[in-house]
Amino acid sequence: MARIIAGVASSHVPAIGAAIDNKQTEEPYWKRVFSGFEKSKEWMAETKPDVAIIVYNDHASAFSVEIVPTFALGCAAEFPPADEGWGPRPVPTVIGHPELASHIAQSVILDEFDLTICNKMEVDHGLTVPMNLLFGSPKEWPCPVIPLAVNVVLYPPPTGHRCYMLGKAIRKAVESYPEDLKVVIFGTGGMSHQISGPRAGLINSKFDKAFLDNLTKDPKKLTRIPHLEFMREAGAEGIEMVMWLIMRGALDDKVDEVYRFYTVPASNTAVGHIILENRKRAAAKRPAGKVAKIKRAAARRTIDIRRGGR
Ligand SMILES: [Fe+2]
Repeated sequence: MARIIAGVASSHVPAIGAAIDNKQTEEPYWKRVFSGFEKSKEWMAETKPDVAIIVYNDHASAFSVEIVPTFALGCAAEFPPADEGWGPRPVPTVIGHPELASHIAQSVILDEFDLTICNKMEVDHGLTVPMNLLFGSPKEWPCPVIPLAVNVVLYPPPTGHRCYMLGKAIRKAVESYPEDLKVVIFGTGGMSHQISGPRAGLINSKFDKAFLDNLTKDPKKLTRIPHLEFMREAGAEGIEMVMWLIMRGALDDKVDEVYRFYTVPASNTAVGHIILENRKRAAAKRPAGKVAKIKRAAARRTIDIRRGGR
């Protein structure tokens, strides 16, 4: 059967994509950001998923504000990069997995989550920036992708609890797919940021770090954060973090945090990133000594990050 082996959360700041496209990744301002994803790229290259499900939000690229689906699942064979105002990003076309996507649609809709099915869709930086951060900039993306676009642009977005439960339904769908596929699920967006209004530039590192802590240890606590608290504490666009809860809902209750990175600012936004592995899956594929070694390494990395390193 197919199985979700790990979850990745990452900000999807558009300026990160512009820095990649304009070859500015070695400039000191951007190097600080990109250096935090070097280990993540190594992890992804070792993990080699067969399929990635990427939860993101569209920024009026595929959908105008005239039609805004709450949850839209990409079932197409391919997803071209969208024109975001400066032309499409120079990234490869994203190849889909229509069979698994249709299976997820069938299962999740029968579980009473009313997805919009997209048989044609363009994808913007919300999806392609995290792909660059985790896969680098290859000529072709290394695995098929199932995009899941979530409305966090027009109020009311779905609640964190609804997102978390959708993650569980997606997991159930994946595990009922007969082919033996390794699936990694991404939650993207966040962390704290506000791009307009009197509080533009708001960053709340205390809120963000607590969110990262609880994402690993107590995600149910995060599902109870109301929209107004996200707005107040993490800025108007901080609500994007509900998408991370879809990823988290698709994982085991107890997970291993294998990597974390947090830095501010990047284009007035807090950049957060975390990699979580399902514990029993991870244990099954590794000898016990190696699991202990990974946990020790993860603890060291967390301490480094808290000291300001990466
Ligand atoms: Fe966004």
